[in-house]
Amino acid sequence: MAALTASSSSSSITLLNKPSLPKRSSFFSSNSHSRLLRFSASAHPRSQSAAIRAVALEPDLNKTPPVQIEETQVFACPVCYEPLLRKGPSGINLQAIYRSGFKCGQCKKTYSSKDEYLDLTVTAGLETFSEAKPITTELFRSPLVSFLYERGWRDNFKRSGFPGAEEEFRMAEEYFKEAQGGVLVDVSCGSGLFSRKFAKSGKYSCVVALDYSENMLRQCNEFIKNDDTFGSSTNIAVVRADVSRLPFPSGSVDAVHAGAALHCWPSPTNAIAEICRVLRSGGVFVGTTFLRYSPSTPWIIRPFQSRILQSYNYLMQDEIKDVCTSCGLTGYVDIVDDSFIMFTARKA
Ligand SMILES: C[S@@+](CC[C@H](N)C(=O)[O-])C[C@H]1O[C@@H](n2cnc3c(N)ncnc32)[C@H](O)[C@@H]1O
Repeated sequence: MAALTASSSSSSITLLNKPSLPKRSSFFSSNSHSRLLRFSASAHPRSQSAAIRAVALEPDLNKTPPVQIEETQVFACPVCYEPLLRKGPSGINLQAIYRSGFKCGQCKKTYSSKDEYLDLTVTAGLETFSEAKPITTELFRSPLVSFLYERGWRDNFKRSGFPGAEEEFRMAEEYFKEAQGGVLVDVSCGSGLFSRKFAKSGKYSCVVALDYSENMLRQCNEFIKNDDTFGSSTNIAVVRADVSRLPFPSGSVDAVHAGAALHCWPSPTNAIAEICRVLRSGGVFVGTTFLRYSPSTPWIIRPFQSRILQSYNYLMQDEIKDVCTSCGLTGYVDIVDDSFIMFTARKA
């Protein structure tokens, strides 16, 4: 970003570029073909953050398909949060992202969709090191749990007061009205139960289905592929990332949804602080989770349900409000039914 924005006051900049578009873009290796980049400032109508966009102009001489190198405007480096540079077809849809390569101009680290999702974790591309997370994160990385999740596992939540996916989606949509037309990130999307509904609604400029679990994301892709109502240009991206290191520029996201997720996060406070960082001013956060105990839980049992005895981070209603407020979210509202809570707040 620094290099691009610094140059944006002048009319042009010279970059080195490959002469033709590879099937999936290997990233930005230097070549003798230099080209001009034209800059234009553009801002999402609802987003307060203007981003500089660079469009590559291919010389007519070699008659190769045009290759674009641009700041993604959506994705940022998970290490330094600078917007990622992108080489490949533009657009936030599965095909275009799969065929694109991403690179941080600052860290020089590259990111791609080698698997069925765009890996934007800090550990992306590491060959020897694999980070083990707490059990609440690791459980959902299992292929079996990922397979079963939308095949019965999720329905069990109804026993604790969750109204069910259709109703939860409808409730969330009510809160997201003002974010329509913007970027919606479905954090900890699992196999994309809600991401797919948000994308199909056509109400958002782009929906990012984001989770840490590789297998959940593979399931998400599978569901999308087998759903005829998804076109190749449906605005959805499937991204692997950690909730405490979200790969988006600060103040760039219009809406964050996190269904049945807060209790699974290793640190709910770090996660909500991070969600607040990426939301634009006025951006909306909607989450659901299980409360530590429901209003009907007998007092005698409550000490045994203390979070000290749990691997999950079950919070209480007031604690969720407290964390949201201390992270700079305002207008907190919640709805409780048994152990189910849906809460919403917006970035000040
Ligand atoms: C119970 S599932 C919720 C899935 C879906 N949102 C729903 O409403 O059914 C919780 C999800 O949180 C994800 N998760 C756990 N730890 C995470 C982390 N550190 N970063 C991102 N996602 C995480 C898991 O992989 C899992 O898919």
